[in-house]
Amino acid sequence: MITTGTTRVVGIFGDPIEHSLSPVIQNAAFAAAGLDYTYVPFHVIPKDLAAAVQSIRALDLAGVNITIPHKEAVLPLIDQVDDVAEEIGAVNTIINRKGRLVGYNTDGVGYLLSLRDELGFTPRGKNIVIIGAGGAARAIFYTTLLDAPASVVVANRTPERAKALIDEFSPRFPEVAVSSAGLGPGLSGYAASADLVVNTTSLGMMGAGEVPLPFDALSRSAIVSDIVYKPLETPLITQAEELGLRTHKGLGMLIRQGAVGFELWTGRAAPVEIMRMAAMAALGLTDERPDKGMHE
Ligand code: ATR
Repeated sequence: MITTGTTRVVGIFGDPIEHSLSPVIQNAAFAAAGLDYTYVPFHVIPKDLAAAVQSIRALDLAGVNITIPHKEAVLPLIDQVDDVAEEIGAVNTIINRKGRLVGYNTDGVGYLLSLRDELGFTPRGKNIVIIGAGGAARAIFYTTLLDAPASVVVANRTPERAKALIDEFSPRFPEVAVSSAGLGPGLSGYAASADLVVNTTSLGMMGAGEVPLPFDALSRSAIVSDIVYKPLETPLITQAEELGLRTHKGLGMLIRQGAVGFELWTGRAAPVEIMRMAAMAALGLTDERPDKGMHE
């Protein structure tokens, strides 16, 4: 696709920005959809965030993604924040509606769409264990609560942080049994009935430690999910696969949250499998699934 005078520009603001996979994923999607759009990374340091947001209007960008460390700081700088993003307290996608900047959070919904598409899993009526209580956990916890699970346990190294998270959200969802736990043996009590266990921490990334999950206590029908995608096969995923459990790897959330952004900016259905293949290629991986490329 050649950039011309009519090309619509979408950006991503972050610090650092050079490792982002979003430009590769989004540009592959724009090309596959035959859209006159381009996606550009911008290295925006915190002191320049307000000026960068103003430039979305000045330069008439179609929209932007917002990544670390700006997801919370950007809220007061835009014109409207969607309800889910407001509750999560973080925006990762902005659409420019004729100079009016509207912010969304596609992390939680992207995660759940990926689980639904890849494994047919939806939270409704299920027992869910979320490991971690940081920004990613917050997005996944809140969007999961919206889908009426039977129970959610938030387990974190610092249990007080998990407790603070559930105290904030759970009063609005009295029909969901919500509890907090530490990462130690206390988690075993919840593992047996868990339908889904998801790691939202950085544990399992290259150089980080492993998620201390009591695999012995897990039900054979549980899904083990990891939002870490570098490496794609984290120790958590490998162990779960060795035990014959169903697994859900981290790339799905990245692709799906990007797909939601693509649909917001362009109004077109996202070519999800093209986006997945572009991400896999950028990570130096090949897609071994038998049905690759069949779901456009
Ligand atoms: P993010 O926005 O990516 O979720 P974050 O807000 O910094 O990042 O949260 C990081 C999460 O990973 C937290 O749940 C953190 O646990 P603490 O609240 O106890 O800090 C968890 N985490 C990071 N490193 C960890 C480690 N070595 N062991 C256990 N949990 C870890």
